[in-house]
Amino acid sequence: MARIAWGITGAGHHLRETFDLFVRAKEVYGDRVSVTSFVSRAAEEVTRVYGLFQQLERVSPGGYMEEVILEREQGWSYPKTGRFSRGIYDALFVSPTTSNTIAKIAHGIADSLVTNAVAHAVKGGVLVFIVPVDIAGSVKSPVPYFINRDLCTGCQECAQACPNDAIDEQIDYLRCNGCGLCKDVCDYNAIQEGTVNLVVRDIDKNNVRTLRDSEGITILDNPHQFEKALLTVI
Ligand SMILES: Cc1cc2nc3c(=O)[nH]c(=O)nc-3n(C[C@H](O)[C@H](O)[C@H](O)COP(=O)(O)O)c2cc1C
Repeated sequence: MARIAWGITGAGHHLRETFDLFVRAKEVYGDRVSVTSFVSRAAEEVTRVYGLFQQLERVSPGGYMEEVILEREQGWSYPKTGRFSRGIYDALFVSPTTSNTIAKIAHGIADSLVTNAVAHAVKGGVLVFIVPVDIAGSVKSPVPYFINRDLCTGCQECAQACPNDAIDEQIDYLRCNGCGLCKDVCDYNAIQEGTVNLVVRDIDKNNVRTLRDSEGITILDNPHQFEKALLTVI
């Protein structure tokens, strides 16, 4: 049995691919793999807005070593990450990894659930694989549902359909759960999804470079390399 820890941070980039890979790993390897999900506060919000939060239970269905551990519910000393020092996990995969979390890890900061997990894993000799979102050049990231004001007639159908009262002038991403009901009821195609092109900053590029040279950490350039890495620990 491979005992995997999955660290999720608040990035939309690579999020769906990572989810799909973990879901597939559970389907393919079944009881041979257990996955504990370590979810940053931002990841909880971001996975929800992309409609993926509820799907976490397909990967971490509950029970010891298969829990969804939410940063929001942890204390400041993150006692759950002590598991990495006790040799309980075979590997920690962090994907997607925000530029914020990459910066912290590159500078030895461990004051959040995921950065603390990485620090403990390295100290405990647990393999750590990290997929940064901002590596070099530019990245094309998905954006969650938004209202195109040029097409919106203000009919309020979407606001009435929303089960979370998340729609006013725009969609409130702290309430939206990405269900897409608003899009379904809109006759004007005003609820849209899309992508944005973002330039990777030098500071983020340099932080990734620093991590490539860091002890105990392997940088994966995209989530698809995860499968190969997983096979090394199964
Ligand atoms: C919808 C949405 C998508 C985001 N996508 C990214 C992203 O792709 N990359 C990134 O570095 N930050 C992204 N962020 C910002 C992070 O969530 C934010 O910097 C957060 O503080 C990161 O915290 P964490 O590193 O502890 O998860 C996104 C925020 C939102 C609301």
